[in-house]
Amino acid sequence: MNHDGNGIAAATDPRVAFFDQQAPRWDQTGPDPVVTLRRLGELEGRLGLVAGMDVLEVGCGTGQITGWLVERVRPGRVVAWDFSPAMLAKARARGVDADFELRDICEVRVEARRFDVVLCFQAFPHFRDRVAAMRQMARQLKPSGELVVMHLLGSRQVSAIHHRVGGSVGGDQLPPATAWPELVGRAGLRVTEAVDCEDLFLIKARWVDESPRRGERASY
Ligand SMILES: C[S@@+](CC[C@H](N)C(=O)[O-])C[C@H]1O[C@@H](n2cnc3c(N)ncnc32)[C@H](O)[C@@H]1O
Repeated sequence: MNHDGNGIAAATDPRVAFFDQQAPRWDQTGPDPVVTLRRLGELEGRLGLVAGMDVLEVGCGTGQITGWLVERVRPGRVVAWDFSPAMLAKARARGVDADFELRDICEVRVEARRFDVVLCFQAFPHFRDRVAAMRQMARQLKPSGELVVMHLLGSRQVSAIHHRVGGSVGGDQLPPATAWPELVGRAGLRVTEAVDCEDLFLIKARWVDESPRRGERASY
């Protein structure tokens, strides 16, 4: 059970069943993976990924971009989390050299892992407890690390799509860029870049104070 928000645990989050049901056909019915990878290639310079970095991908789904991330940061490692077993099974089946783990970002119970980049690609609106998710993502960052939240549409477009889909994701809104300083600030981060236009949403954030958190010293 999380302690920051609505108190709903993954076991009762209806989105697990929703995404489990979507998993078998996600690559056909969700955003076109070919277009996604082409756009990521165009935007690569903005993501700041460098060989040797360790990356955590939160809400990896079927792993559409995980292999692309692996290629960018090798010999660094990519760890990919999702709370839908069916999505993760599809992701693992790709045979990509990444560590796929079943985790709920709203109630992670693992040690802080200290990644160079925590990337949340097209998943943030679905996190039922934004404050808890933000704190957990921040907790996984190295003192010099960067949080990247990205969609290939603007916040209005993303929220409108979820509204049209309805059901358990109908109310899953992507907060507009103006809301993010407060959102990340509650986790001790500051926004370093914010874009929210029709075809791109990009928030980058870093620790306000880059010295290691007290009591959270990592083993790196
Ligand atoms: C819209 S899909 C996007 C998947 C992938 N990033 C992509 O672009 O294809 C959102 C993903 O977030 C996952 N998700 C939603 N809430 C989550 C949570 N609390 N913890 C971990 N994963 C979550 C879902 O299971 C789903 O796979």
